[in-house]
Amino acid sequence: MKNLLIKNAKLRYTNELTDILICDGVFQKIKTIADPPADTEIIDVAGNLVTPPIIDPHVHLDAVLVAGILPRKNKTGTLLESIDIWSEWKPGLTKKTLKENARKVIDWYIANGVLRVRTHADTTDPTLLTVESLVELKEEVKDLIDIQIVGFPQDGIYTRPENLGLLKEAIAMGIDVIGGAPHLEYTREDGVRDVETVFDLAEKHDKLIDIHIDETGDPHSRFIEVMAKESILRGMGERATGSHTTAMHNYDNDYAFKLIGNLAKAKMNMIVNPSANLLLQSRMSGYPKSRAIARADDMLARGVNVSIGHDSVMDPWYSLGKANLLQQAFLMLHAGHMNGSEQLQQIFDMITTNSAKTLHLDNYGIEEGNQADLIIFDAATEDDVLRLQSECTYVIRKGKIICQTTPARRKLTYQETPSYVDFKL
Ligand code: FE2
Repeated sequence: MKNLLIKNAKLRYTNELTDILICDGVFQKIKTIADPPADTEIIDVAGNLVTPPIIDPHVHLDAVLVAGILPRKNKTGTLLESIDIWSEWKPGLTKKTLKENARKVIDWYIANGVLRVRTHADTTDPTLLTVESLVELKEEVKDLIDIQIVGFPQDGIYTRPENLGLLKEAIAMGIDVIGGAPHLEYTREDGVRDVETVFDLAEKHDKLIDIHIDETGDPHSRFIEVMAKESILRGMGERATGSHTTAMHNYDNDYAFKLIGNLAKAKMNMIVNPSANLLLQSRMSGYPKSRAIARADDMLARGVNVSIGHDSVMDPWYSLGKANLLQQAFLMLHAGHMNGSEQLQQIFDMITTNSAKTLHLDNYGIEEGNQADLIIFDAATEDDVLRLQSECTYVIRKGKIICQTTPARRKLTYQETPSYVDFKL
């Protein structure tokens, strides 16, 4: 394999430019290289930002790209009606359609610099077609992108007698992470059982945990406190993630203060999903409209690890999206009032390093000896990457360029001599 030398790279948390030498798919040296080895391809990035790949820690690849072919429209705009539509559509879903759609979105991820993904796979369909398809796909694309699969009981574990058995079957089929959906159970008691069951299974099978939890605007939905308790008592918090948790937005402030303290004590991970949840939750509250996103800034300030996920790409829950985490970051920083200078850095962490911690990734980051995965932005700073929604000019996987993008060039022709606009100073 040809060596690769990235010249004049701006890494995060430093103002100095550096070079990055990649040999045999591994970061060999990260320092100024005067004499690169023979047979080295050189890319001079002229001070642009170079980072590890972006991570999507929360998506549903089994449902992507079906928005235009669903049997009916969502009249209420709610999560609950979206789930009903998905349930009506599921029997018509084929492995071929599912895999083709997911594969297409994987190419979109690559073009957007996303090379690590945690996807949920619905385990409440008796065929377990979703799990089977995604387990196959994970293997088929492993040279391009790393995928983790969560077994996700979309309709709850205790709403049908067979759901627990199906979740156990999914574990045997090779999922990496065990999920739950306590707020979708029929009773509060079943919701508590849902969380406890997920912890029992994860403990027994040595799996990570990622539970869709309190994904509602209802401030009385408080299963996240059960998750914090189980994490603390079993010492499993670093392996556990609470996803969505939109009810937290509407909690009483005193209760939220106590809860966030327990999430920090548990060392749990949390994932927010701005685009879908801004639209799906608190639909009944009228004005003032709730933003329905968990309190990311408060949690980060108190030491909880928080990441941003895309959740949906043109699916029953959210009909837009193009697998670009910079869009989600942009939404989060606005909806969460997170535009302070340090918070913009936190926002960038939330689509990179924080997610790496959530997914328990090793071999992630631009460090000598690590697998050489990186992306090069068409901007020099994190602030500008967010402002410009920058393109990734290069995406590099295991030392190989797997995607190149030429940013748009806008030519102003209203004067005799044309000029060009790139929105940079
Ligand atoms: Fe989700």
